[in-house]
Amino acid sequence: MRKIHVIGIGAGDPEQLTLQAVRALRATDVFFVLDKGEVKADLVRLRRDMLDAHVEPGTYRVVEARDPERDRAAGGSAYSPAVGDWRSARGEIYQRLISKELGEDESGAFLVWGDPALYDSTLGILEEILARGEVAFTYDVVPGISSVSALVARHRTGLNRVAGPVQITTGRRLAEGLPEGVDDVVVMLDAHQAFRRYADQDIDIYWGAYIGTPDEILVSGPLAEAGPRIERIRAEARERKGWIMDTYLLRRDPGRS
Ligand SMILES: C[S@@+](CC[C@H](N)C(=O)[O-])C[C@H]1O[C@@H](n2cnc3c(N)ncnc32)[C@H](O)[C@@H]1O
Repeated sequence: MRKIHVIGIGAGDPEQLTLQAVRALRATDVFFVLDKGEVKADLVRLRRDMLDAHVEPGTYRVVEARDPERDRAAGGSAYSPAVGDWRSARGEIYQRLISKELGEDESGAFLVWGDPALYDSTLGILEEILARGEVAFTYDVVPGISSVSALVARHRTGLNRVAGPVQITTGRRLAEGLPEGVDDVVVMLDAHQAFRRYADQDIDIYWGAYIGTPDEILVSGPLAEAGPRIERIRAEARERKGWIMDTYLLRRDPGRS
């Protein structure tokens, strides 16, 4: 039976590949790489470099496919249907890759940034393909170092305060309000700097872009002061590279341990 490895490859630093991930890379016959176009070419290259560094040349194939475009303009109630359409378009591509590019007894792999369990649709898509019943395979998941872990490590801070909770959320949700009952909030997928509206509160921010890559940028400090600096640096970096990936931790009442 076909076998799929879903391999978390860390936030961008090749040294954050775990030994388990390297073992799974070496046990793979076909790597599926989804390309999102020119601006994400850097990320495709980074994956290829990881393979060059850890897997014997000539022992595997790489199959590239074009990632479907997502309707990022869709907001509000249109957001979920837009994500749903994009997921099913992705599902069709994944199913075709698995059924057409992978032999009956071969192993394929999807290389996932950070950890496959965090804001990534690969596992959900594989379950949907299995539910359709048109192609059979088994799959396993190799955890990876998430951009969340990489962010706080680079800032030399923890995610939570003593025995306190921490919440991981999206920029879209943060724009609706700070979550109740939690003072440490990690924000991902924020294209609009939702932290802006909280600049009048006693909050520290720990921000990182391109974490783990040679382009890494880190900024931290009180939100009122660091926020405008981050907005400027972020806009410049995005202009220069054509894309950006950033994550941040907001810490309310930062004087408390
Ligand atoms: C689709 S999610 C994938 C998250 C990933 N599975 C993880 O565990 O980090 C993409 C978001 O992850 C964050 N991200 C991923 N890699 C990053 C990096 N190297 N530096 C900063 N943020 C990153 C950004 O918030 C980005 O919008």
